[in-house]
Amino acid sequence: PEERVENETPKGLRVSDKGFLNTAVIQSQITYIDGDAGILRYRGYPIEQLALHSTHLETAYLLIYGTLPSEKQLRQFDNEVMSHSYVHADAENFFRSFRYDAHPMAILTSAFAYLGSYYGEANPSLQGQKLFTNGDRSSLANMDRQIFRIIGKATTLAAMAYRVRQGREFVIPPAGLSYTGQFLYQMDHLGQENYKPSPVLEKALDVLFLLHADHELNASCTTVLQTGSSLVDPYSAIAAGCASLYGPLHGGANEAVIRMLISIGSPGNVPAFLESVKRREKVLSGFGHRVYKTSDPRSFIIRKTADEVFKVTGKDELMETAMALHDAAIKDEYFVKRQLAPNVDFWSGLIYRAMGFPLDFFPVLFAVPRVVGWLAHWRQMMLQEGGVKIWRPRQVYVGSAKRDYVPIGNRP
Ligand code: ACO
Repeated sequence: PEERVENETPKGLRVSDKGFLNTAVIQSQITYIDGDAGILRYRGYPIEQLALHSTHLETAYLLIYGTLPSEKQLRQFDNEVMSHSYVHADAENFFRSFRYDAHPMAILTSAFAYLGSYYGEANPSLQGQKLFTNGDRSSLANMDRQIFRIIGKATTLAAMAYRVRQGREFVIPPAGLSYTGQFLYQMDHLGQENYKPSPVLEKALDVLFLLHADHELNASCTTVLQTGSSLVDPYSAIAAGCASLYGPLHGGANEAVIRMLISIGSPGNVPAFLESVKRREKVLSGFGHRVYKTSDPRSFIIRKTADEVFKVTGKDELMETAMALHDAAIKDEYFVKRQLAPNVDFWSGLIYRAMGFPLDFFPVLFAVPRVVGWLAHWRQMMLQEGGVKIWRPRQVYVGSAKRDYVPIGNRP
């Protein structure tokens, strides 16, 4: 009836939950977080053990398929991923169409959507809606192929986004190096002749990649699933995830931390900066988390990794300010009361900076490993029992009641 109250629903209770603080939208077996105890586990394995003993690609296998691989499985997975690192030569034109100062996240986001246009075999709009959901052998093999491709090409697309802005030639992904080794080689971000990645930096980047590989239903992963729930191809869903990660409250925070430290300038200015945060004029970037309310376990591992990196690169000049800020904030009543602890981004930016990456490239260094987690969740959703249900939340309507159209000449 016309006079039905707008927010009544014939389908049961409607909950208003701004920012999804308490809404679970899926059952998942991938990542476990206990934000009060500071626990993070991938498929049951503590993040600390994985960071110590595993590699990014082994962890990728674990996240996607649910078990640690045998030697043979890992070799096959590595080969598949690495052999998909090439991109079609036509892509060079696409990359060259961006302005010289385009943000690399804008380039990477577009590049994933562009890539999808090459693979009609991965497009349910062309191949039929059940392409990835019926779980038969050819469907699973097709799904694997897209997963290998996206992980394999992520580093190449990122390196291309980096080089094109400098007007430099693109590099063909080299064989025989590790995932992070070939990425650093393609980047050759220090512009050195016969550049060989330092094994320490290669390992440090691998640990950072592993730590960033998944974090359950954060904004970008949710975006990938929401987009994927319409059964769009996985490249478009990953592009949507990149767009979400781009924002300063999420993957852009590592960049924001460095800008904040530069603006603070020196340890002596820390107290005044913290006061301005308390007056809500500034944000303490790299602190606070929707889920972690005591500590982010990744931040301890990253802090240790930073020391390893600084042994090779020398200490970052911002480190003193970062330490002073960290030490003051964790003791300050204002931040303690609000359970604001350093998150993964507080230290990661300092490592990337010491390794010589430009500031606006930091979110790309987050996106490249995170495609693993997005794909693990996408695969899980596609194969869930009962098929995929499109994600279509409801709103609480607070707008005008019914009113009649007024011709323009009769309006006040
Ligand atoms: N600096 C200052 N105050 C903060 C911060 C911060 N970084 N984070 C939260 N607060 C304050 C809020 O103002 C609020 O105070 P109030 O209750 O007096 O109004 C209180 O702490 C609770 O914060 P919420 O905004 O409710 O926390 P929410 O869970 O919505 O936000 C978020 C989490 C977005 C991460 C937030 O802490 C933030 O903006 N942090 C800085 C950006 C950042 O580091 N992002 C990276 C997140 S980790 C990642 O994406 C890998």
